[in-house]
Amino acid sequence: MNVIRVFSGENHGFVVLLLAALIFGTVKSDIIDPDFKEPISNVTAPVGREAILSCAVQDLAGYKVAWLRVDTQTILTIAKQVITKNYRIGVTHIDHRIWFLHIREVRESDRGWYMCQINTDPMKSQVGYLDVVVPPDIIDYQTSTDMVVREGSNVTLRCAATGSPTPNITWRREDGQTIVLGNGREALSVEGPLFEITKVNRMHMGSYLCIASNGIPPSVSKRIMLIVHFPPMIWIQNQLVGAREGQQITLECHSEAYPKSINYWTMEKDEIVPQSGKYEPALVDSAYKVQMKLTIRSITASDYGTYKCVSRNSLGDTDGSIKLYRIPSSSGYHTGNDTYKGKLRKNAGNEILEGSQDMLKERDPDYDDVSDSSNMKCCIELITLSIMLVICFHHHPQLQVLHPA
Ligand SMILES: *[C@@H]1O[C@H](CO)[C@@H](O)[C@H](O)[C@H]1NC(C)=O
Ligand SMILES: *[C@@H]1O[C@H](CO)[C@@H](O)[C@H](O)[C@H]1NC(C)=O
Ligand SMILES: *[C@@H]1O[C@H](CO)[C@@H](O)[C@H](O)[C@H]1NC(C)=O
Ligand SMILES: *[C@@H]1O[C@H](CO)[C@@H](O)[C@H](O)[C@H]1NC(C)=O
Repeated sequence: MNVIRVFSGENHGFVVLLLAALIFGTVKSDIIDPDFKEPISNVTAPVGREAILSCAVQDLAGYKVAWLRVDTQTILTIAKQVITKNYRIGVTHIDHRIWFLHIREVRESDRGWYMCQINTDPMKSQVGYLDVVVPPDIIDYQTSTDMVVREGSNVTLRCAATGSPTPNITWRREDGQTIVLGNGREALSVEGPLFEITKVNRMHMGSYLCIASNGIPPSVSKRIMLIVHFPPMIWIQNQLVGAREGQQITLECHSEAYPKSINYWTMEKDEIVPQSGKYEPALVDSAYKVQMKLTIRSITASDYGTYKCVSRNSLGDTDGSIKLYRIPSSSGYHTGNDTYKGKLRKNAGNEILEGSQDMLKERDPDYDDVSDSSNMKCCIELITLSIMLVICFHHHPQLQVLHPA
């Protein structure tokens, strides 16, 4: 009886309400608001490539997803439509669930925040960040070029680079050697856009690389030559050399100079040691160092005396003396460590040397009696010749044989 009463007229209104509530509830659960499934992942793209941002949604039903550029408040896309006039923008989706914003040939100006929006009321949105990275590049006009400095001066090498993130600058010697720092310590590399050397010295001479890197390949580098000028200096190990007559002896000087020096030997009265089978000057040079040697074969009485090695460049000249004295010998020739190897060693010179040798040979017999004026002429010619040879052999680190008069 009670059941019947539920469906009686007086309860009718309640039942309708109940049904309405049920129906409403059902409808409500069918059209649940769409929402985002996960946050937008930040994206990092190298300049020039394509950047893709993705926005995952659920229960989209009839709603639409739009992409916007936050800082410019620009609508880029709505659903499958590209709205912006920017030809580099595109939009794709998977099953209306994941919406991709494509930015082709990405530029640094594209860096920033992007918004994915659903047109619910009120609308729902979330944002993601696009970072655009740029490999380093060296700014030539803000970077030092090759430098020529005097020894003892202060030098600053500069290197400027663009790139995103901001590149680090590292300095290295191209030859891989260590860099002598102001505090006397040595390092393989120096960090920072300014490379300062206080009181530069000859050991700093060389090619340096300024390397810019920011983790985005490729790194770039620029080569900067540092040339240190200084007047010649001479070192002599043995300033007193004794020899017996008939012996062969080699005198030795070490010279340092840059620009490279002209080097020659003189004897008494500053006469330049003649080139002949008897005297053989030789140079071994590397960078700014020169080892000067003078070999005297089969020493005779007139060979004893003071020899000078002379080194001269545009900044000055210097010389060093070696005294060759006689060791009396009863046994005569072939004593000591040095052995006599024969009068004329075959010269493996090139054409210039051959020619110069001929020219100088002609003068040989008169050497001892040369008058002052012809001697002067000889010297001038010799210096000219030396300059030619120095220029000629500038880049030959191997043994160089000079043939002064
Ligand atoms: C995205 O990048 C922005 C800007 O660099 C940063 O503030 C944010 O924390 C990043 N979000 C995520 C999820 O990495
Ligand atoms: C080089 O730098 C040092 C230290 O900064 C300074 O004492 C010196 O005067 C500078 N020399 C020259 C020639 O500028
Ligand atoms: C730049 O140098 C700093 C400090 O040496 C270092 O922490 C950073 O990782 C470097 N950055 C790059 C991109 O190499
Ligand atoms: C002889 O010469 C050799 C090599 O040139 C050297 O090692 C040696 O010490 C010399 N001996 C003497 C007695 O000078």
